[in-house]
Formats: sequence, C-alpha cells, structure tokens
Amino acid sequence: MDFTYSEEELLIAKLAQDFAARSVRPGAAERDLSGEFPSDLVRQMGELGLMGITMPEQYGGAGASAMAYYAALEEIAKACAATAVIAEVHTSLVSEPILQFGSEEQKAKFLPPLARGAQLGSFALTEPNAGSDAAAIQTVAVREGDDYVIDGSKMFITNAGVSDLLLVMAMTDRSQGTRGITAFIVPARAPGVAYGKPLHKLGIRASQTAEITFTGVRVPAANRLGEEGQGFRIAMWALDGGRIGIATQATGIALAALEAATGYAKTRVQFGKPIAELQAVQWMLADMATGIDAARLLWQRAAFLKDQGKRFAKEAAMAKLMASEVAMECASKAIQIHGGYGYTTEYPVERLLRDAKITEIYEGTSEIQRLVIALSLLR
Ligand code: CAA
Repeated sequence: MDFTYSEEELLIAKLAQDFAARSVRPGAAERDLSGEFPSDLVRQMGELGLMGITMPEQYGGAGASAMAYYAALEEIAKACAATAVIAEVHTSLVSEPILQFGSEEQKAKFLPPLARGAQLGSFALTEPNAGSDAAAIQTVAVREGDDYVIDGSKMFITNAGVSDLLLVMAMTDRSQGTRGITAFIVPARAPGVAYGKPLHKLGIRASQTAEITFTGVRVPAANRLGEEGQGFRIAMWALDGGRIGIATQATGIALAALEAATGYAKTRVQFGKPIAELQAVQWMLADMATGIDAARLLWQRAAFLKDQGKRFAKEAAMAKLMASEVAMECASKAIQIHGGYGYTTEYPVERLLRDAKITEIYEGTSEIQRLVIALSLLR
C-alpha cells in the first residue's frame, strides 16, 4: 500500500488547507455561537471545486481520487467541523451514489450542479424510529403510473432546508425487508416536502439539521436511483464512503485539538516554567499525536482501497471508530491542558469536544461500526 500523495492530491489538499486557513477558520467560533449556516463558504467551496472533487470532469467535477477528497475534508474539518460535514454529506452520500448507481440520463442531469456546488444535497435515510436499525424505515413510496408518491418523515437530516436535492430511502415493498427499500432523487422544494425547525445541537452547530416530512410527494419514476429494492444497498454503499469522510472529520478535529494544546502548553507558565516542560503534559501531547497518526493511517488505508476499487466497508468502519474516539480523547486532553481556561468559550477546545461527540454517532454509531467490523470477521 502506497499512501504517498500524488501531485494532484497534494495540490487539492493544499487548496483546501489555504482556503480553510483564510476563510473557514476565522469565523468558526462565531458560527458555532450563532448557528448560522455558512452559505457563503459553501458557495466558495463550489467555486474552488471542493464540492465535486471525486466527480468526473465530464460532470463538472475535478475527477480526482477519493484520497484527494478525504485529505481536503480533513483540512476543512480542522478549521471547522460543521463546514466539513456539509460538504461530506453532499459528496459521499448524494453525489457519489448518483455517480455509482445512476443512469446516464440521471448523471448528466443531476451531477453537474452538485459537482459545481450550485446545488446542495441531503441524504434522507434516518427516521424518528429508524436510526441504527436503518431497515426499520416507515416512509413509503407507492407507484402510481409513471410516478411514485412518497409519504413519511425523516429525522436528523444534514443540510435539510438549505439543500436542493434529497436522496430519499423509502419502502416500496415492506414484505421484502431490506430488499423492499428503494432510493429516490427528490427535489428539495417539491410540493409536499416540509421542513421542521433547525435542531439546536451540542456541536457542529453551523451545519443545519432538521426533520423532513413528505406528504403525497410525487416524483417521476425517472428519479428512482437504481432498481426497486436496491435502496438499502445503495444507502449502505454510500455510508461506507461516508464513514471514511467522518473519520477524516474526526481526524481534523483531533489535529485542531493537538495544535491548540501544543500552542497553549508552550506559553502557559506554571511552577516557573512553560507547562510544556512538564512530563504530565508531554505525555498527553504524545498520546494525542500517536492517536492522530493511527486514525489518519486507518482512513488513508480505507481511501486507498476505495480508489483501488476494492472492498473497504470493514476498513471504513475501523477508521471511523478509531478516529471518532481519538477526536474525543484529543479534545478532552486539550481542555485538560488548558485547565479552567479550556472550559470557557474564550478558547476553541470546548467547541472541539462538542464537535467531536457527533463523530461517534452519525453515519453509524461506534456500536454499529463495531458490529460491521465483527460481522466481517465472523462471515
Ligand atoms: N454495502 C453494500 N451492501 C450492504 C452493506 C454494504 N456495506 N452492508 C449490508 N449490505 C447489504 C447486505 O449484503 C444485505 O443484502 P442482501 O439482502 O442482498 O443479502 C442487505 O444489505 C441487508 O444487510 P443486513 O442484513 O446486514 O442489514 P441489517 O438490517 O442487519 O443492518 C446495519 C445492518 C449495519 C446495522 C445497518 O442498518 C446500518 O449501517 N445501520 C446504521 C445506519 C447509519 O449508519 N445511519 C446513518 C444515517 S445517515 C447520517 O448520519 C448522515 C448525516 O446526516 C451526517
């Protein structure tokens, strides 16, 4: 396995790094307080090509590798985890499944605006009573002539209310269980689509999350992604790539925590010397750096396998599991190193802890990642 970045991958990571330092990081604390969705940053990411890194050039993307995309995401997440997840859901959970499972007509129609960032995507799988048990969804889609009519509700949907296109999983044949679920591309403003108020969240507060209800929403059969009954596997395929994305987001958060803790430890004087000279602090920094390298190597391995067209579900789950726990650990240690100051909003580390927590929950909880890993061992 060779994780050396190609020239193109380095260029894209550098582009993201510069953009993140210049435009994303400065307002991150303010956006966290206000909860304001960063429309302007999303527009700029689109203009820079960061919303369609892995989309082929023929559809308006950069035609770059998964490795380039994930490296860019890590850079953005290091500056602002909320901004990163907006691009992550859009790319991994909407554009990529359309590219993988869409017909030529669907790809030509839906991908160019998504790849350019002119349109934003949401992934609608989770429901009030179907979280970890994704197959328990109750939203239904009934065929009526050339249309399907969708009824139901979706919960915790990232980008809900600010996106243009929804990838919706609905039951078309309940008797078939997971094989009765079908995926649909639904315009976000179609008649019958309604949005709940944005949820007040512990972290990633600038990303918008809301409930979506579908009441008699009519979509043409041409908007069905894949075959009837293929929706669950499409969702699982998308989430495999998404889990690498959350691993990069968590790694970015952990990196920000290490950077903040190192900087603070060098300048904070106690007992007549910078606390960085105390072994207790040095060990915390060493553990943080070791965890971050392990997390990054795991997501890079998963990205490498994805780029090679090999199976990577287990590796993606391992990367997300490790990186999210490392992010929590690093953010907690960074607060510890900051002492009382770290517990206040004067320093960024309390936000990092709040942002880190969600990486253990969305796109499959840590428990679900362990289940995916264990099942692949026992298969
Ligand atoms: N790729 C392709 N197909 C897959 C797959 C994968 N990774 N995993 C499972 N499948 C297929 C299986 O092969 C099986 O296919 P067949 O019917 O052809 O045999 C089918 O899917 C059903 O599989 P299971 O029997 O394993 O399904 P299950 O009901 O036991 O569920 C699970 C498995 C892993 C627990 C799954 O429900 C799961 O991943 N749950 C977590 C859900 C989740 O991650 N939600 C995230 C919400 S989205 C989000 O958070 C985004 C956001 O906004 C940030």
